[in-house]
Amino acid sequence: MPPLTVTPVHVGIVMDGNGRWAARRGLPRLEGHRAGARCVREVAEAAVEFGVKVLTLYAFSTENWARPEAEVSGLMTLLEESIEREQDAIMENQIRVRSIGRRDAVPSTLQVAIDQLEEATRGNDRLTVNFAFNYGGRSEIVDAVREIVAEGVPASRISEETIARHLYTRNLPDPDLVIRTAGEMRLSNFLLWQAAYAEYYAAQVFWPDFGREEFYAALANYSRRERKFGSLSGGGDYAGSDDCAGSEDSSSSRNGKAKQ
Ligand code: FPP
Repeated sequence: MPPLTVTPVHVGIVMDGNGRWAARRGLPRLEGHRAGARCVREVAEAAVEFGVKVLTLYAFSTENWARPEAEVSGLMTLLEESIEREQDAIMENQIRVRSIGRRDAVPSTLQVAIDQLEEATRGNDRLTVNFAFNYGGRSEIVDAVREIVAEGVPASRISEETIARHLYTRNLPDPDLVIRTAGEMRLSNFLLWQAAYAEYYAAQVFWPDFGREEFYAALANYSRRERKFGSLSGGGDYAGSDDCAGSEDSSSSRNGKAKQ
């Protein structure tokens, strides 16, 4: 794996396909989630290795409550077990763990475990792993607007910056890259505001099969993109070669330094 020319600072991942992974093997859905939880560690360690600074993982959406009760409670238990099991590796890798999402409705034992992990890892600075849990992009914006109104900010003083400062991610940079596994190409209410200019990448494998190599492939694909943020392409400072192999859109993918 050659070194990446450009590495995204913040990568968001929609971890999709656990259920299908399990179904293909004749296993219960929860086994897919269990395999998915194991894969979180490999990807977090790869993020440290590749120099990504923030990883936001979509672990449970506000819509996921509509799943069967057994699956929901199984996911909660799995998350609690994973926190317990991974604590040493998290500290060894100097990973800071945070969570974003609505805290209500999350079982209190899980809430306590998340709070303790956030506190224990507060001083770690190699990578921030941000778990989106009971998270929805729309409800995040609603919560931000409620806070702004409660603070009595006059309408004329509300800017994009004001909204951004009231989101759950207020201290984090916007995601540069959003990856979704299982070949799906939907946002599903993930980082709606923050991902306005993110690059997207659809990985063709189910989440439990997504590991270090697939992650590298996504990052390498990102490093070939040219980010324009609504402006024109760089023109004069384009330092790319003709090699656009593997890119999804050769007109906007160049082997040059992405404009951040
Ligand atoms: C989507 O797959 C996945 C989820 C809703 C849950 C993601 C949770 C994990 C990866 C495990 C959580 C553990 C940690 C440590 C974060 P799906 O069930 O929608 O799959 P399908 O579309 O194939 O049915």
